[in-house]
Amino acid sequence: MIHLINQTSRTVRTAVNVQERWFAPDHNGRLKWLSAWHGDSVERAAVLKIVLYQPEIPPNTGNVVRLCANVGASLHLIEPLGFSLDDRSLRRAGMDYRELADVSVYSRYSDFVAQHPQTRILAFSTAGETCYTDGGYRQGDALLFGPETRGLPRALLQKLPAAQRLRIPMTAPARSVNLSNAVAVAVYEAWRQLRFEGGD
Ligand SMILES: C[S@@+](CC[C@H](N)C(=O)[O-])C[C@H]1O[C@@H](n2cnc3c(N)ncnc32)[C@H](O)[C@@H]1O
Repeated sequence: MIHLINQTSRTVRTAVNVQERWFAPDHNGRLKWLSAWHGDSVERAAVLKIVLYQPEIPPNTGNVVRLCANVGASLHLIEPLGFSLDDRSLRRAGMDYRELADVSVYSRYSDFVAQHPQTRILAFSTAGETCYTDGGYRQGDALLFGPETRGLPRALLQKLPAAQRLRIPMTAPARSVNLSNAVAVAVYEAWRQLRFEGGD
């Protein structure tokens, strides 16, 4: 599945692949062969969403920007951020994020939820009850990570079922995995379960 974005109206339509050809509904709802279309740009729907809740340390987010570009995930940042998006160390770690990755910023977590009502959220926490390899990842899932010094708020975690609170195993004395490493471990497992869709 891909999304067609009309750059003028910013409307989005979904196109489907039938026997190696892409089709999308026209204005009357009839499926038309995509090569006959003009005025739309084609964007692949992000296979996964990465959500960083109030990230604090710029190089971590920079690494995640680069990672998202590598795996075709979209990145969603929940404010307040501990840095400016023009921060030099973020740009150095993430190269030029504007060219590489699909990044959105939200004032509140509830704004992200409201704008993605169909999206299943899988929260990563050292207090998670389910091993991250048992996430049963689906296309379009959002993988949610907490800030470096605090982790995700307990109240937010409690709103999700235990099956959606995921933990990356560690040896006993370790307190937590670095944020960008946790995202890398999680997103590659999720993408692997989705058969590395879009990758080669
Ligand atoms: C540096 S950690 C935060 C540490 C915080 N003191 C805590 O215990 O949650 C930053 C984020 O990385 C993710 N993370 C780190 N280690 C993890 C683990 N073992 N399992 C699941 N998520 C982890 C979580 O999303 C966490 O909020």
